[in-house]
Amino acid sequence: MTKLTQRLGGTTTALALCAGLVFSAQVSADNIAEGKKIAFDRKKGNCLACHHIEGGTLAGTIAPPLIAMKQRFPDKAKLRAQIWDATVANPNSIMPPMGRHKILTEKEIDLVTDFIHSL
Ligand code: HEC
Repeated sequence: MTKLTQRLGGTTTALALCAGLVFSAQVSADNIAEGKKIAFDRKKGNCLACHHIEGGTLAGTIAPPLIAMKQRFPDKAKLRAQIWDATVANPNSIMPPMGRHKILTEKEIDLVTDFIHSL
């Protein structure tokens, strides 16, 4: 009986861990919507000044269109790093280093990354 309880306990823990992993891997629609707002806000990310992004208007063409981002950035951390400081990949980048210059907060960068990664 003790053995069975222990077994069940183990299974429950394993299930809880799995659920946690699935949950954290999923990005909520709320995060994406919030990230989109920040990305499009002229006083925040203002990404449309330079990038075409689906759903945005009057987008600039000075930078590559942000499309198929999951394929181009399978590693989401790399995408976040690009947004945090574009000058690491390209020292001459005209893209504002959103994190390094504190244009956006860390939380805002997380949300923008969720949104861009969904494109
Ligand atoms: C002033 C113009 C400008 C603004 C504003 C800007 N970017 Fe960029 N971005 C660029 C340029 C130019 C590039 C091309 C690479 C380079 O020169 O650094 C780029 C590259 C990128 C890339 C890499 C694309 C790829 O395919 O490699 C991502 C992702 C990106 N920008 C996201 C954003 C996000 C998100 C915002 C808003 C929070 C933003 N950018 C705001 C100019 C800009």
